[in-house]
Amino acid sequence: MWPKSVETSLELREQYSHDWTEDLRFLPDAVALPTTVEELQAVLAYAYAHDIPIVPAGGCTGLSGGMLPVAGGWVVSLQKLNRILTIDSTNLQAIVQAGVITQHLHEAVEALGLFYPPDPSSRGSCTIGGNIAHNAGGVRALKYGTTREYVLGLEAFLPDGRPLRTGSRTLKNATAYNLTQLLVGSEGTLAVIHTATLKLLPKPRYARTLLLGFPEASQALHAAIRLLREGFLPAALEFMEQEAVQYAEAYLGYSPYPEARQCGGLLLIELDGDWLEAIEAHCGEIEALAEKEGALQSWYAQTSAERARLWELRRSIGVAVRSSGPYKEEDTVVPRSALPDLLAFVKALGQRYGFRSVCYGHVGDGNLHVNILREGLSEQAWREEVPRAVAELFQFVVQQGGAISGEHGIGWVQRRYMPIQFSETELALMRALKKAFDPKGLLNPGKIFP
Ligand code: LAC
Ligand code: ZN
Repeated sequence: MWPKSVETSLELREQYSHDWTEDLRFLPDAVALPTTVEELQAVLAYAYAHDIPIVPAGGCTGLSGGMLPVAGGWVVSLQKLNRILTIDSTNLQAIVQAGVITQHLHEAVEALGLFYPPDPSSRGSCTIGGNIAHNAGGVRALKYGTTREYVLGLEAFLPDGRPLRTGSRTLKNATAYNLTQLLVGSEGTLAVIHTATLKLLPKPRYARTLLLGFPEASQALHAAIRLLREGFLPAALEFMEQEAVQYAEAYLGYSPYPEARQCGGLLLIELDGDWLEAIEAHCGEIEALAEKEGALQSWYAQTSAERARLWELRRSIGVAVRSSGPYKEEDTVVPRSALPDLLAFVKALGQRYGFRSVCYGHVGDGNLHVNILREGLSEQAWREEVPRAVAELFQFVVQQGGAISGEHGIGWVQRRYMPIQFSETELALMRALKKAFDPKGLLNPGKIFP
């Protein structure tokens, strides 16, 4: 019997034909929006019996094309499985369905004095399930880690509808293979995650935010590396080159920090904790250190309104660049000491291949988002030469001990670069794992593997 939650209207299919990745579109044959776990299971069982590809989707905010239905089939949206089932203040855990919007979880736990740190820029639209599927990072990963660190257990379905329960409701678990962490970051290719047990922390009582401007982008990176070496551990340590700020300002329609125009590179730093005096003292020490490293400007946000304004600028860079025209985003990550060389490499690459780039990211994590702008590039340059430049970029990243994605995943757009990172032996092992979970190859086909 045709499952109840599956619809085929063109409008809905178009709505689920894209995420936030470039301007890519693939029309699914149908869209399922199950409202209960039982409905989800029925959809999967039907699709499996009829050899229909299934593409799980969360908030459709991904930047690697992970939810694009590239082989047709059905997009199965988890968005209506969006209940926070339990917030357990004694054990500091939450049990949530995959479709919960990340920001909703933040708000719900913070109202109880608790804290769920993973905080992607898309937090207002992305879902916990999508965050888990891609091991999302965000702006607090330096101090608190990525989504992975908060996933204690999962409930999921294999593609044929058989249920899986991984992990436990404990912080410790040394029980055999760690299927939970295998599913984290598996990009919807192994199982359909519908419920997660997440670790929470007590919410830090105070936070203060600083914006520091440097004449040159490389000075900002060196200053960031130095302040970490000197023992500071900010919750966030973000880098923006001048162009990134300009894009964000143009998108927001105002220039909150006109003096930032003179700065080639900026750092956005947030310190949090329970002792305000210590946070304030550390902010002062960081400002002094930054000045020694050449900082020209410093803005200090005390009130939550001022902090929100600084964060709005940073969080809107991605959407600002995206809405300005065609571009490709490369989610490079290297040991952070290699960041100045990485930035120089990107700019030299741009000169050689004739493209401009906008770079920003999570400097504390060594995670630099490299946005390559199409602008006046010919079709041939965009389709053939730029991918060669990206391959060179990723070769450099891997040589530095880095990886071809820090937090956006491989999905559809980065899979051709996988052999730069992995040997045939390693790829064969991953393929064997995929086969063990999904022998028919129906779950999110066309992703991850080159
Ligand atoms: C950010 C997203 C693009 O850092 O990862 O804003
Ligand atoms: Zn990011």
